[in-house]
Formats: sequence, structure tokens, C-alpha cells
Amino acid sequence: MREQLGLLKEKAEKELSQCKRLDDLNAFRVKYMGKKGELTKILRGMGKLPAAERPVMGQLANKIRDSLENKIADLTEKLKKKEMEQSLLAESIDITLPGIGPELGRQHPLSLVIEEIEEIFLGMGFMIEEGPEIELDYYNFEALNIPKDHPAREMQDSFYLSPEVLLRTHTSPVQARTMEKMRPHLPVKIIVPGKVYRRDDDATHSPMFHQVEGLLIDQVVRFSDLKGVLLNFAQQMFGADQKIRLRPSFFPFTEPSAEVDISCVMCKGTGCRTCGQTGWLEVLGAGMVHPRVLEMGGYNPEEVSGFAFGMGVERIAMLKYGIDDLRLLFENDVRFLRQF
Ligand code: PHE
Repeated sequence: MREQLGLLKEKAEKELSQCKRLDDLNAFRVKYMGKKGELTKILRGMGKLPAAERPVMGQLANKIRDSLENKIADLTEKLKKKEMEQSLLAESIDITLPGIGPELGRQHPLSLVIEEIEEIFLGMGFMIEEGPEIELDYYNFEALNIPKDHPAREMQDSFYLSPEVLLRTHTSPVQARTMEKMRPHLPVKIIVPGKVYRRDDDATHSPMFHQVEGLLIDQVVRFSDLKGVLLNFAQQMFGADQKIRLRPSFFPFTEPSAEVDISCVMCKGTGCRTCGQTGWLEVLGAGMVHPRVLEMGGYNPEEVSGFAFGMGVERIAMLKYGIDDLRLLFENDVRFLRQF
């Protein structure tokens, strides 16, 4: 048995020295020290020895086992360290590689223009209001002094969801909604940016477009206040040399009403293709809030007065950025959008 143990020790130590990976070590331990391992078998066979030999052989076998265990432990440490180093090396980063930046989006020119309009009116003390795009006939027409059979409805032929519900054709219903909400508070001083819908679709009309509504109601609001606010807006938006021109017009919810022109941003008023040689560009509708509209909104037209205006955002964006086709704004071609 002594011989057997000696051979085993030699063989085991040689094998151990050839273990290169932690997995090899585990296999080694199973092979010699596992339940059916070679050393275990010898230890089990101890019972068959004469009683006198047992302690000596037992001691020898235990010594071999302890020494193998120690060597395994040492080697485990070493291999662990080596494998760790290897995996760190494998994961190392080449910091000289060029970076890959995220694709950044851009703000749409319409959003840019809406934000700029908001900024200008916030600066004049207006607050920003919003309203629903799916609107009641009452707010879209009725409360704005456009009764059921009024011919002005034809101008804004629209998308109806039911006889009483439609996609709003302008942002003006938010005038009525805000008055209802705020009465009897003064002043009502708001702008309303938002989407509106009309049954139109050609090179210069889109079935969906954007407006910014304005409404100011206070104890004394004059037509000259309207003119002053609009001139200030035009000059901040298009330059300090801007002029505006008001022409008489008609809206059922304002009286008197006006179409407002700004001097042509392309030719500065001398006449060009953009302005049809007139030197002027029509950009918004406006007027003094009709007494009936004030009344329906819960304000007494004998005690308060107001003005309102509504502008088309697409038109302003096209003039501001020199865009010559409305449809470019809705195609969302990134090559176009990246230019702003
Ligand atoms: N709502 C009108 C339109 O869409 C514009 C407007 C607003 C006119 C407010 C006067 C006052 O054409």
C-alpha cells in the first residue's frame, strides 16, 4: 500500500502541475478526492489492512491528501488571478476609436415660429391658453355670433363628427371658452396657439394648419391698442422697419373688423413676386370683439371692450424663412428640416 500511495502521489502531482485552468483543477479534485476518487478509494481500503499498519498508512494517506489540498488551494488562487487579468484584457477599451454620437433631432420650423410668437406676446403680458381640437358647434360658431344658417359657415366648411361636434375651423372658439372660464375677471389677455382644420387641400392650403389667436378684454380697450400690439408684434417678428396696414373686412365675431397686412418681407414694400407687386402681405384677421360675443361670454359690453386677432402660423413661417411651398412643412424630409 505504501508503494501504491507513493505512485499515486507522484502521478497526482504531475497532473496537478499540468492544470492550466480552474476547470482543470475541479476535474482534478473529483478525480482524486471525489467520492469515487483514486485517493478516496485507497483510504476506504484501509479497513482491510492489518490493525498494526493502519495508523501509519492512515497518516501517510492523510499527509498526501493535505499536501494535495494545499497545492490545489495555491493553484486556485493563481489561476483565479490569471483568469481575471485575461478577462480584463479582453474587455479593455480602445480609447483611440472615433466616437459615435447620437442622431440629434431638430425643432420643426413651425414649432420654432410658434415659440417665437409666444415669446413676443408673453413679453407684452399675454398668457397662453389652449382648447380642444374636437370642438362643439356652439363654441366654434354659435358663441362667436355665427348662427346655424349664417353664410360665413361656408367659408369654413369643415369635418363634422356629428351635427353638433366638429374639428375646430379656427382657434377663435377658445375666445369663448376663456371668457366663460374667467368671467368676470379682467383683463382677459391671452394668445391661443393650436391646430385647426378645414376642407381644403392644394398648393397653398392644407386640411390641417396652425393658428395663433389673440384676445384682450379690459375696461377700456381701443382700436389703437390693437394696432399698437400688432405693429409691435410685426416689428419683433420681422424687423424694426416693419410697417402694418389695416383694411376693412368682415368677421361675425368682430366689429369693426380688419385684414392686417405687413410690408413685404422680401422686397421691403417696393413690389415683388411674393407680394404680387403690391408691397404688402396679408397675415392676419382682427377686430374689436363684437358686443354679442362679449355678452355670450358673460361680460357686459357696456362696461368692457376688447380686441381679437387670428394669424396663420404656416404663412408666417414661410415668410420668415423664405419657404415657397406650403407642403414642404408637412413632408418632414429631414434634409429640409435640418436647415432651421
Ligand atoms: N378666426 C378668424 C379666421 O380663422 C380670424 C380672426 C380671429 C379674425 C380673431 C378676427 C378676430 O379666419
